[in-house]
Amino acid sequence: MSENGTLLQVANLRKHFPIIGGMLGRQIGTVKAVDDISFDIQRGETLGMVGESGCGKSTAGRAILQLHKPTAGQVIYDGADLTTMNAEVLRVLRPKMQMIFQDPYATLNPRHPVKKIVGEPLVIHGMMKKGSAELSDRVAELLELVGMDPAYMRRFPHEFSGGQRQRIGIARALSLNPDFIVCDEPISALDVSIQAQVVNLMQDLQEQLGVAYLFIAHDLSMVKHISHRIVVMYLGKVMELAERNTLFDDPLHPYTQSLNSAVPVPDPKTERIRKRFILKGDPPSPANPPSGCVFHTRCPLTVERCIRVEPEFREIQAGHFVTCHLADESGSSKIPEQSDLS
Ligand SMILES: Nc1ncnc2c1ncn2[C@@H]1O[C@H](COP(=O)(O)OP(=O)(O)O)[C@@H](O)[C@H]1O
Ligand SMILES: [Mg+2]
Repeated sequence: MSENGTLLQVANLRKHFPIIGGMLGRQIGTVKAVDDISFDIQRGETLGMVGESGCGKSTAGRAILQLHKPTAGQVIYDGADLTTMNAEVLRVLRPKMQMIFQDPYATLNPRHPVKKIVGEPLVIHGMMKKGSAELSDRVAELLELVGMDPAYMRRFPHEFSGGQRQRIGIARALSLNPDFIVCDEPISALDVSIQAQVVNLMQDLQEQLGVAYLFIAHDLSMVKHISHRIVVMYLGKVMELAERNTLFDDPLHPYTQSLNSAVPVPDPKTERIRKRFILKGDPPSPANPPSGCVFHTRCPLTVERCIRVEPEFREIQAGHFVTCHLADESGSSKIPEQSDLS
């Protein structure tokens, strides 16, 4: 991991959405999509973020970039709080923070040639003139950077495969030399064979450019190779945060243990005897989260305290944070081998 210092600090960030209903269109509830999450991102680092669909990953990414106005909390970028910054200053910083999406096809304008798609941010931000040779050169350079033939700049999105479209999306995101990119499930929609190519490309780009990623995925296997550290989300909250290897080798939260047990291992012998902890049911609604620990309704280890008292997000070992009453040195938060949850 880079030792270049902290790029972003996310502190007690919340994003709640009102639920509007009834004939009068009044607020009848609140979806706590992101509910008090804290972590930092180092320069040039990849922080993986995993959790089931609906746990608040996209909302967290958007709230960090101020594409959703946070309900509470801070996002400190390079020493300045984005959540209280005036619009002018934020506009100056915007180019430094970009986003790429799961479905590049939905986000690439089908009527625009690649040249326009990739070069557009440079024109919008007034850095280069439309139709200039400088702009063409920069687009060619960006396409080469993502492993594409610069001649493709005259083609349209429908002429490309999913993996190539994702490369175009990455080229566009890189056009303004960002130092942070929220990657919202960028490989989830791609064929398995293509996923590794895109991950490798993103890793190479990070090495060359020093860009930091918040890399979102819904399962651990997708973030395993690219992440330096991993944050595990459940129902709008962070359950666990640790260095990648610690999270895989010594997961302390029962939820992480269950996600980890679903990741296949390459060795067929180990794979055959591997214990799987499959959780029952779906996660509860973030509009009506359980009392105490939000995970208690699905946790195989729930005790009375978990139902009553919300556990704190706390550092158990240096750099290893867990939100679980049972997590301690003695391993009380480990799901016993013989337990069968399926
Ligand atoms: N714009 C919105 N308005 C209201 N509710 C939303 C909005 N965006 C997301 N949500 C709700 O917030 C929760 C988290 O959603 P999301 O961040 O998309 O989760 P994920 O990306 O992990 O699948 C979900 O319950 C979702 O329905
Ligand atoms: Mg999402």
